[in-house]
Amino acid sequence: MVIEMPEAPLPRGKIETPAYSGSEIEEEALRLQEAIKQPMRWDLELCRALAPLTLEINRLKREQGVFLIAHSYQTPDIVYGVADSVADSYSLSKDARDAPQQTILFSSVRFMAETAKIVSPHKTVLHPSPEAGCSLSDGISAQDVIDLKEAHPGVPVVCYINTSAAVKAECDVCVTSSNYIKICERLPGDRLIFVPDRFMGKHLQTALSDKEVLVYGGECEVHANFTGEKIRTWRNSMDDHGVDLVVMSHPECDADVLEESDVVGSSEILKDEALRMASKGQRDFMLVTECGTADRVLAESDEDLNLIGACVMCRHMKSTQLEDILQALRDPRADQVIELDADVIESARMCLDEMFRLMD
Ligand code: 13P
Repeated sequence: MVIEMPEAPLPRGKIETPAYSGSEIEEEALRLQEAIKQPMRWDLELCRALAPLTLEINRLKREQGVFLIAHSYQTPDIVYGVADSVADSYSLSKDARDAPQQTILFSSVRFMAETAKIVSPHKTVLHPSPEAGCSLSDGISAQDVIDLKEAHPGVPVVCYINTSAAVKAECDVCVTSSNYIKICERLPGDRLIFVPDRFMGKHLQTALSDKEVLVYGGECEVHANFTGEKIRTWRNSMDDHGVDLVVMSHPECDADVLEESDVVGSSEILKDEALRMASKGQRDFMLVTECGTADRVLAESDEDLNLIGACVMCRHMKSTQLEDILQALRDPRADQVIELDADVIESARMCLDEMFRLMD
């Protein structure tokens, strides 16, 4: 692995766990280390320190009938230690809707937990880190959408899923990184408003030659870091060493990054495609996205892969630790239980249902 990865998070040591036996801790630590498959970054000592937390979270989940959903960008101890479902935002919104359990704990940023509440309003949705936002979601308000609709009456408004419930409630259809082109192709008319990601809106305009796309000005603070120039530099230097590099990027990146990429897709699509190519012999990848995707590729590949370049960590996604999950399961604070106005849920639900309908 050549990629520079952030340090694995140490437990903060601020929450008590029951006294599990030495053998229980050893077995759990080995399970974690084997699943994460990065023995240097996630060494046995760290996994032993995490083991009482994962054991206790899994026990409480079973006892309380909680379905624990984690986005791919959560740290590997959450993804491989305690999550029941891990995927991209489209799949997770369907899993939240379809889970039979009455309580969902969503380990991720706020807009994803709100989405779970919108698609399953009768369930209790716990969000361990209420302060975990998103630069895209926090960069646009419901009033901004109302102003756009007034300026362009009758033009359908498409929102990326990285938006608050209040913003979704003002929009006609929601999209994600795995379906934004497909859904927008299916919309009637020759114009649409796309909020809030300006880069994704630009790709959409390129893909939809027969429609005009009016784009809002937001961006993801993680994916905006990458440039086509940086990727070209890495690719040229790899070429000089005879390395056949596959570059994979997320559509929240700018157009010059996508132009340099061999594969573009959601966090789940990138992971699955890297695993598929690895099984056919490809070894060298550059993942131009948040570091969580690299963690998943490393954990789920049976091959010894070279991940080249530098991923960028999302501080919001990474603000949740196992201890926050345990605390929210034991005794959730009011701000860790997602509550939304009934009329916001109803309107935002129509926006999400339209996405599910257009994807059928
Ligand atoms: P995915 O749907 O691809 O997981 O993307 C969510 C996200 O916020 C990416 O930055």
